[in-house]
Amino acid sequence: MERIHVAVRARPLSAEDTKSTPWRISGNSILIPNYSNKFEFDRVFGEACKTEEVYRSKTKEIVTAAVRGFNGTVFAYGQTNSGKTHTMRGTANEPGVIPLAVHDLFHIIQQDVDREFLLRMSYMEIYNEDINDLLAPEHRKLQIHESTERGIYVAGLREEIVASPQQVLDLMQFGESHRHIGETNMNLYSSRSHTIFRMIIESRDRTGDDDSSNSCDAVRVSVLNLVDLAGSERAAKTGAEGVRLKEGSHINKSLMTLGTVIKKLSEGAESQGGHVPYRDSKLTRILQPALGGNANTAIICNITLAQVHADETKSSLQFASRALRVTNCAHVNEILTDAALLKRQKKEIEELREKLQGSQSEHLGKGDSQSSKHIITV
Ligand SMILES: Nc1ncnc2c1ncn2[C@@H]1O[C@H](COP(=O)(O)OP(=O)(O)OP(=O)(O)O)[C@@H](O)[C@H]1O
Ligand SMILES: [Mg+2]
Repeated sequence: MERIHVAVRARPLSAEDTKSTPWRISGNSILIPNYSNKFEFDRVFGEACKTEEVYRSKTKEIVTAAVRGFNGTVFAYGQTNSGKTHTMRGTANEPGVIPLAVHDLFHIIQQDVDREFLLRMSYMEIYNEDINDLLAPEHRKLQIHESTERGIYVAGLREEIVASPQQVLDLMQFGESHRHIGETNMNLYSSRSHTIFRMIIESRDRTGDDDSSNSCDAVRVSVLNLVDLAGSERAAKTGAEGVRLKEGSHINKSLMTLGTVIKKLSEGAESQGGHVPYRDSKLTRILQPALGGNANTAIICNITLAQVHADETKSSLQFASRALRVTNCAHVNEILTDAALLKRQKKEIEELREKLQGSQSEHLGKGDSQSSKHIITV
């Protein structure tokens, strides 16, 4: 069992906002002096920090574990204009968590000479509660299904096989051009949809190619989700009307469901057999395995320390504090191909035979007339 890792990142402020900020950061805690609540997290990053530092603090470890077969999910949460897209996607000068993770992933894989890898990527957005495929823009309104074999999955989502970081980043760029972005009073390039960038990592022991070896064809499959959420917002501040207002209400609704899911999980609802409303939004349904199950999960909570947004920042920090109490249980996802299963069974049978033969000759040697009852036919 492992806790969800929660980091907070404060975005840079204007000189004026810096003068009037009520917040103080001290180590890994953040507080308003004389205000009763003091929030403590795994990490708190101040305005001067660079994305690379945020990446190294936990996501790097999640990426490394994903190569070893553990599912991983990292998402950026926070109010509009707080720096989520800056953190996850970044700019040419300051690459975000996604490009940093992609480069690292390929680097780690190249070092691993004992296994062979197959990487696939997908990129989707949830816009007004519809799932759209950003790699195949004609695939819209995709449905979520669940099966014992695949777990929860988005039917018809394109998965591209990728062989280099550049290929992934080019595909991402293509996807970005189809993402819903709009101008609001608060953010010129406000994300109007949640995006889930996903790498699926399959690997197999190379020594399995050699028939005489003892190794088996077990295939590890893990999923790495890097999520850039749309930001919670108040219509009064964003000046949202018409389409923007409708988008805003969908965004707020799915973030509210995410908040409720995290609250329930932090109260231990799932382990006590209680109801967790994953199905109330597409976002929580898709992220269900990452939130209450088999994944290493980290949240980067983006905030602004400006006085005017103190209420929104408090509510983001409350969400993040609850997330600290959620635990997950990640395990290596190993599946066996039929051939591999047969190979493994054959090996076990041979070992059993050898053991039996050994024990038979031992008993016969001692003249034990009861030995026949130990013989098992396989
Ligand atoms: N740490 C940072 N350093 C430099 N610029 C930043 C930083 N964080 C945010 N910004 C800038 O602030 C603006 C808003 O950031 P961004 O678009 O990432 O916010 P967001 O949280 O994704 O908002 P929304 O929810 O509306 O999509 C951008 O111009 C971005 O470049
Ligand atoms: Mg954004």
